[in-house]
Amino acid sequence: SIIPVILCGGVGSRLWPVSRDLHPKPFIRLSDGQSLLQKAFLRGAQLPGVAEILTVTNRDLFFKTKDEYCEVNASGLPLSFILEPFGRNTAAAIAAATLQVSAAHGSDAIMLVLAADHLIADHTAFQQAVAEASGLASTGNLVTFGIQPHGPETGYGYIEADGNAVLRFVEKPCLDKAKEYLASGRFFWNSGMFCFTSGAMLHQLEEQCPDILSATRACMEQSRSTAGQGFAQVELDPDLFSKVPDNSIDYAVMEKTHNALVVACDIGWSDIGCWKALGDLTTPDDNNNRVQGCALVVDSKNCTIKSENRVVGAVGVENLIIIDTADALLVVDNRRTQEVKHLYAQLQAQG
Ligand code: GDD
Ligand code: MG
Repeated sequence: SIIPVILCGGVGSRLWPVSRDLHPKPFIRLSDGQSLLQKAFLRGAQLPGVAEILTVTNRDLFFKTKDEYCEVNASGLPLSFILEPFGRNTAAAIAAATLQVSAAHGSDAIMLVLAADHLIADHTAFQQAVAEASGLASTGNLVTFGIQPHGPETGYGYIEADGNAVLRFVEKPCLDKAKEYLASGRFFWNSGMFCFTSGAMLHQLEEQCPDILSATRACMEQSRSTAGQGFAQVELDPDLFSKVPDNSIDYAVMEKTHNALVVACDIGWSDIGCWKALGDLTTPDDNNNRVQGCALVVDSKNCTIKSENRVVGAVGVENLIIIDTADALLVVDNRRTQEVKHLYAQLQAQG
């Protein structure tokens, strides 16, 4: 059986003002009423033979996360949590999860790392890809899921593949490289999901980033575990966790390992990175406007408007994204939504 591990940590600064420190991107609800986090939970829970879901998240998001899960956890699947005092990036989060799984279920346990903020449209294809990946993982490989690229995105990892073999893994290349990779036809995007046995990942962490593994292990050993009905949680010790180097699993392990494989998959994957991507999920009207909540448009084109409370009206405008929340209003050109993160950074700098 497989243990899904949901990573829920990034802020999602390109989705400000709806994505905040205490209301990050995975909690954004889509028009069907489900949050990205709930979708990730169901994606894991609906795999055959899953007996528990492990989540690594910030301790401030614990109750919120539990509430979100309980809304959709109809079968009462047991939930375990590793609670971080602050983010130390995905290598530390995965190391902690792997140590936990290895202690509880042994080194042959198969783990499936899922991001909390992706969308996967085709569940059947996803389940088939996971079945193939877990077969390849059981012999000690770190398996990635390769997505056919459709643009020279620089926010993704690129995987050069020959069949299932990974020839090269390049995390977030520059634009020129990304264009070159796309043109070559030999590269996939890394979906950010991984499948491996706990033993194989521990071995790779030991080989590629022993400092991250040993600091995380020291932290896990001094951390407080509690268990209740259907729940178990480990709260990471802040002093020891602060000693864990900050790096992503992609740089720390995946770029360096010789044990990576890839499963090519066509699963309707999208990383909902910016407002343009989120807007594109809703059906447009005849003028390509997408409107959610209390918004009205007159003689306008290519606009996305989302309003939580107030009535928002737009007249005679084009290519705008307008996001209104109780205490912040965002207006952005829909071709420049990647730059919203700079706004977020400025706000952080002002305190
Ligand atoms: N618990 C925890 N703690 N989770 C974290 C942390 C952390 O410190 N940092 C990030 N995460 C979670 C995020 O919430 C997300 O679900 C997942 O881990 C991936 O982190 P991102 O910050 O979104 O990574 P990325 O988008 O820059 O890059 C990764 O995903 C791309 C695909 O979306 C890489 O794996 C790329 O190679 C990949 O292409
Ligand atoms: Mg991401």
